[in-house]
Amino acid sequence: MLEELKEANGYVTGKIKEKDELILEMEKYAAENNVPIVTKEVAEYLKFMVNINRSTNILEVGTAIGYSGILMAKASEKYGGKLTTIEIDEIRYKEALENFKKAGLTNVNAILGDASEEIKKLNEEFDFVFIDASKGHYKEFFDDSYKLLKKDGIIFIDNIMFRGYLYKEYPKRFKTIVRKLDEFITWLYEEFGEKFVLLPFGDGIGLLKK
Ligand SMILES: C[S@@+](CC[C@H](N)C(=O)[O-])C[C@H]1O[C@@H](n2cnc3c(N)ncnc32)[C@H](O)[C@@H]1O
Repeated sequence: MLEELKEANGYVTGKIKEKDELILEMEKYAAENNVPIVTKEVAEYLKFMVNINRSTNILEVGTAIGYSGILMAKASEKYGGKLTTIEIDEIRYKEALENFKKAGLTNVNAILGDASEEIKKLNEEFDFVFIDASKGHYKEFFDDSYKLLKKDGIIFIDNIMFRGYLYKEYPKRFKTIVRKLDEFITWLYEEFGEKFVLLPFGDGIGLLKK
């Protein structure tokens, strides 16, 4: 999350009264076990976007334990939709499978593997893509999934402003990621103009409409 927004985010999240037991349990588990899941206000916005687009075929890059996946799969279920989600870590993948089962979802295709290889193997069109995995590969995930995106489809990119390191001092070890993300954002504006928007909330969100 962007540090500068902590107070505002606290206000927003204070207004959200989550009632779903599984979601609450997963939020607790993620906090206790350092699993990076979308922040609450981003989760709300993600559901909102899936709903206003009535998305029926969603691709997620970076499943973790299935938190955002469950939110999107449930939202799209109403429109007869489904979710394909990719996770590289076997332990997290197995946890996600358990959670999808607990949520009673039958519209999820969970894939264990490296998204750099797995997206290329998919042979279908998506109307919503959520990119939330290794930031050093965002451009690659974007290029691969854009090819599978329907006209008018949306790509939602989380953590694109990487803790604010793109505009303030950052630990040296992040030099390459910071450079790559900054170049990626510049490219998105140049290439897509008004079809791309950068939103400075959560940890920075990039939204593209094809
Ligand atoms: C920020 S977490 C995803 C959180 C999840 N979207 C949520 O909000 O509930 C990023 C996940 O991406 C996975 N990941 C990283 N690189 C990956 C890759 N190349 N292919 C697939 N998954 C990857 C990590 O193992 C991690 O579980």
